Amino acid sequence: MHGIARSMLKNENATLNDLVLHIRQKGYKHIHFGGLFSCKSILSDLEEFLQLLNSTSIKCDYKISTSIDTNFDAENHWGFIETIDISKVDNLEPKKPYINDVDSKLWKVFKYIDFGLFNDLECRMMAGGYSDLESSLQILSKYFRKAIMATRGEKGVLGMHNGSNSFFNFDSLNVSVVDATGAGDCFNAGFIFNYILNKNETQNEFELIEKSAQYGCYAGSLGVTRMGASDIPITFADIEDLVCANNSSKKIKM
Ligand SMILES: Nc1ncnc2c1ncn2[C@@H]1O[C@H](COP(=O)(O)OP(=O)(O)OP(=O)(O)O)[C@@H](O)[C@H]1O
Ligand SMILES: [Mg+2]
Repeated sequence: MHGIARSMLKNENATLNDLVLHIRQKGYKHIHFGGLFSCKSILSDLEEFLQLLNSTSIKCDYKISTSIDTNFDAENHWGFIETIDISKVDNLEPKKPYINDVDSKLWKVFKYIDFGLFNDLECRMMAGGYSDLESSLQILSKYFRKAIMATRGEKGVLGMHNGSNSFFNFDSLNVSVVDATGAGDCFNAGFIFNYILNKNETQNEFELIEKSAQYGCYAGSLGVTRMGASDIPITFADIEDLVCANNSSKKIKM
C-alpha cells in the first residue's frame, strides 16, 4: 500500500495518511479491492490503511464504502480460517486450507470491508473448501460489515447480509454468451455503481444492497453478450431498463 500511495501521489515520501487524505480530497465514495490474491503484497499494510480510512481523525463529511473481490487464489491457500467455528455446520467435510502469515492478514482486513464480492467457487474455498454454497455464505457473512455475495455465472447471484438469517438471490438474464471473461468485474461495477448512487438517499440499506445485487447481476449478463471488456460499453440506463422490466427478488429462509 505504501508503494501505491507513492505512485498515486507521485511522491517518494507519501504515507498511508497522505493517501487517505488524497482519497478524501478527491471525493471518492467507494474503494474496491479487486484481484487481491494476485497482489498479496498490499496485504502487509492494508489493515492500517483501512483503519485510517475509517478514522475520525481524518475529517470527512461522508463515509467511504469498501468492497473486495479476491478472485481465484492460484496458490490455493484461500486465506486464514482458524477462527471459523465449523462445528455449527452440518454434513460438510471442510478441508482446512494452508494457513500462512500473508493469508491471516486477509482475514483481519475483512472486518473493515463492507462487501465481499466473490464467485461461487471462491466463496466455498474461502470458507474452508465446502461443497455447499449456502453454508459457506453463512460463515463468510459474519466477517464482512454489510454483506457477502456469490456470483454463480448463468445462475445469477446469491447473497446474505451480515446478521441476517435469510439469503437473497437474483437470476441472471437468459442471454446468448459471446465472451464470459470479466463477468465478475461487470457484476462488481453494476453493484457498486448503484449502491454509491443511492446510499445517501435510502432509508433501508438492506433493500438497497439487494437492489444493487440485481444491478450487478444484469451488468454481468449484459457483459457476457459482448466480446472483450470494452467493445460497446454498458450504460447504467441499459441496466436500469432491465431492472424495471424484471422487478423480482427471491428470498430464501434458512
Ligand atoms: N452465461 C451467463 N448468462 C447470463 N449471465 C451471466 C452468465 N455468466 C455470468 N453472468 C452474469 O455475470 C455475473 C458474474 O459472473 P460469474 O459468476 O461467472 O463471475 P466470475 O466467475 O467472477 O467471472 P470472471 O472471473 O470471468 O470475471 C453473474 O452473477 C451473472 O449475473
Ligand atoms: Mg471474479
